[in-house]
Amino acid sequence: MLALSLLAGPGIATVTARQSNPPMGGGLTGNWAVRTASADGTTRSTYFNLKQEGSRVTGSIRTTQFYYVITESTGGPEGFSLIATMKDGKSDRRVQYEGKLVGNELHLTTRRRPDAPPTEMIAQRAPEGEGVMPPRIPPPALHKVPDNGLARTPPMGWNSWNKFAGRVDDATVRSIADAMASNGMKEAGYLYINIDDTWEGGRDARGNIQTNKKFPDMKALADYVHGKGLKLGIYSSPGPNTCAGYEGSYGHEDQDARTYAAWGIDYLKYDWCGARTLYTDEEMPAIYQKMGDALQATRRPIVYSLCQYGRLDVWKWGADVGGNLWRTTGDIRDAWDSMSRIGFGQNDLAPYAKPGHWNDPDMLEIGNGHMSDIEYKTHMSLWSILAAPLLAGNDLRSMSPEIVGILTNREVIAVDQDKDGKQGMRVWKSGDQEIWTRPLSGGALAVGLFNRSTEAAKMSVRWADIGISGNAKLRDLWLHQDIPWQGPEYSATVPGHGVVLLRVTWL
Ligand code: GLA
Repeated sequence: MLALSLLAGPGIATVTARQSNPPMGGGLTGNWAVRTASADGTTRSTYFNLKQEGSRVTGSIRTTQFYYVITESTGGPEGFSLIATMKDGKSDRRVQYEGKLVGNELHLTTRRRPDAPPTEMIAQRAPEGEGVMPPRIPPPALHKVPDNGLARTPPMGWNSWNKFAGRVDDATVRSIADAMASNGMKEAGYLYINIDDTWEGGRDARGNIQTNKKFPDMKALADYVHGKGLKLGIYSSPGPNTCAGYEGSYGHEDQDARTYAAWGIDYLKYDWCGARTLYTDEEMPAIYQKMGDALQATRRPIVYSLCQYGRLDVWKWGADVGGNLWRTTGDIRDAWDSMSRIGFGQNDLAPYAKPGHWNDPDMLEIGNGHMSDIEYKTHMSLWSILAAPLLAGNDLRSMSPEIVGILTNREVIAVDQDKDGKQGMRVWKSGDQEIWTRPLSGGALAVGLFNRSTEAAKMSVRWADIGISGNAKLRDLWLHQDIPWQGPEYSATVPGHGVVLLRVTWL
């Protein structure tokens, strides 16, 4: 889905015919490719490997991250319809194409959703064998990958995807590093500058991964980022292709890890995506372990971030395969519904977070423009109570003072970065109001009064109900003010979609 939206993104989608072979026996039989060239010099291809016998068409469809087998067909060269399916973890995926042969081209349409307008494409004949799935490499036997000693507190930094997607390039990364080093974020603890998908080129004759045109020299870029006192992260997939359809690390895990180390990379986000074409969910631990081992074999400290959307209860095995953090859900969007559904849905995962190993409810959307500042404060507060990684996902070069203030609120960051590394939990809920607490080192407690309703609400917390007896010191972490002790109960009016975040310290 993401790959499709990326292809439709600005400056990316142009369908071109790269080469055409003479028809082999006519009809629909043969290997067909729809090629989409990117401005970065790379091409995404979708392959239709078809065999037509009368009105029956069999074969496979390989898109940038999916591999389907044709299960139903009707019609022939003058007009046909194909349904193809694949198993993806617990779900069954299905695509449908309508098409016809026009001269030596296959004109095709499909729909992303049944109610979406049709997407049209033209396939040309491609050489037999191009685009076939690589043979499956059996997963290794499981063993415990030793702790790499990194990420003792949740990683902090920036990631390119939420704001830039396929438009990230060397100049953008440098200017984001400049911004982070000069706008107070670095001093507040932000460290990693992470390049997400779409930096990849192909491989050279010896199989070494190359960058594409957008990243002329990754080592020079790492040197630049290090020169700012920051660290550089990169992205790949255990599959043949990434989510956006770029080159993945499949079969090149050790080689890629060595390349990252030689470039000076400090963080890897490893995204399942294309691996679903070759492996079941049950095989995920072994596949992630492979890169965990490969990274450690480089002897360079590289934070290892697992991204497989929380499947197979990753929190139960992520640490054992060398992971420092693991995504717990699908992708976040810059919208209250998405952020709040993810954030408030993390309660059961608290026992699995600990120093070096974190639940990752996805990157921040703060400053991307589709939530209010009140909602972004809720986002920041909730992620901090959750001991979540704080990876800004906005354009750090052009932020309002309010957004800088939210991202660099040191009192809130101190909650996130608390050295005990205990993830907070919900202690009370009534309708749209929830109270979450997080135990902090030294016996303090972070208390978040969250109002998920659109209307302001008066919320109260009785200290005895959350285990506090006697007097305590109260501090409002957004107002940066101490609050006089009001006795056994504290009440505040919390704005719609807002939060009051307190630090409670026993006297
Ligand atoms: C997946 C991940 C996202 C991002 C994209 C890149 O959707 O979950 O965070 O990395 O892939 O293609």
